[in-house]
Amino acid sequence: MQITKSPNNTATAKLMSVPEPTEDEFNLFRKLVLKELGFEWGDDKKYLLYARVQRRLQKNRLQTFQNYYDFIEKDENSSERQYLYNAVTTTKSEFYREKQHFEFLRQNIFPDLKNHTSRRQRKLRFWSAGCSSGEEPYTLAMEAHDYFGASFISNGGLRILGSDVNTEVLESAVTGCYAEKLLSPIPVAFSKRYFFSESKEINSHHQIKTEIQQLIQFRQFNLMSAKYPIATKFQLIFCRNVLYYLQPERREFLIRKLVDHLEEGGWLVLGITESGYKIDKMKKHSISIYQKI
Ligand SMILES: C[S@@+](CC[C@H](N)C(=O)[O-])C[C@H]1O[C@@H](n2cnc3c(N)ncnc32)[C@H](O)[C@@H]1O
Repeated sequence: MQITKSPNNTATAKLMSVPEPTEDEFNLFRKLVLKELGFEWGDDKKYLLYARVQRRLQKNRLQTFQNYYDFIEKDENSSERQYLYNAVTTTKSEFYREKQHFEFLRQNIFPDLKNHTSRRQRKLRFWSAGCSSGEEPYTLAMEAHDYFGASFISNGGLRILGSDVNTEVLESAVTGCYAEKLLSPIPVAFSKRYFFSESKEINSHHQIKTEIQQLIQFRQFNLMSAKYPIATKFQLIFCRNVLYYLQPERREFLIRKLVDHLEEGGWLVLGITESGYKIDKMKKHSISIYQKI
């Protein structure tokens, strides 16, 4: 596992009240999240900043958002900056989210990769960019395991990278452990085959099996960085519900980087609400699904 121990959100014993950010204070954070994470915040995000970040001010015994901004600017080891990233990222995810992508995967992408892989005897490399708490890469792993077969997969045929900027969700993803109710979108045959639980209690936690868990490596990095810590190219990249939050120029930047990290013939899957892009070097196959040409 290559993620660092994250800042977590332990509550302070005695919480002082924090005033809402002023317009000027809000603008400081607006510029900061744009510069660092590429987020485009409208005026409506002022409350989000207040609601999600005020406890960091309390924890650090700071009185105003200006004080907190100054504190972050002076934060030499960037640990408080990481708390801020964890607080302001939207991390909603679920197994089989946007189910039609997984149908397309089985009907079109996997057969194409099978053909391509057996011809060139290559290993499969997938990337879930902005993987949040792991539901997306685990869904990919279960689907691939079922389609390509245990012997191909467990003989090193597939490796999946799950990356995110948020260390809290990555810590949860690494455990591969989910409350029972979160498993409901998974086909029953797959939840029985790929998860186990030692408890018979209602809404107990279920653990993904090692054969699936070991296919995925979780790593923390910012998709807005100039250079990613990735040496290989991928045949399949899922980057869904990440672009949505970004400023248009940052979207273009990210799409270009993702295309660069795809092999020729590789596939890029964006979120359904992120459709409509015309991307250089990419053929559009279906709503939000592209192939590198
Ligand atoms: C809404 S979730 C989507 C999760 C998953 N892809 C899905 O569709 O279910 C977006 C994820 O992207 C991550 N993210 C946002 N901006 C990022 C950035 N600049 N670098 C890396 N991850 C980022 C967030 O932390 C969050 O976990």
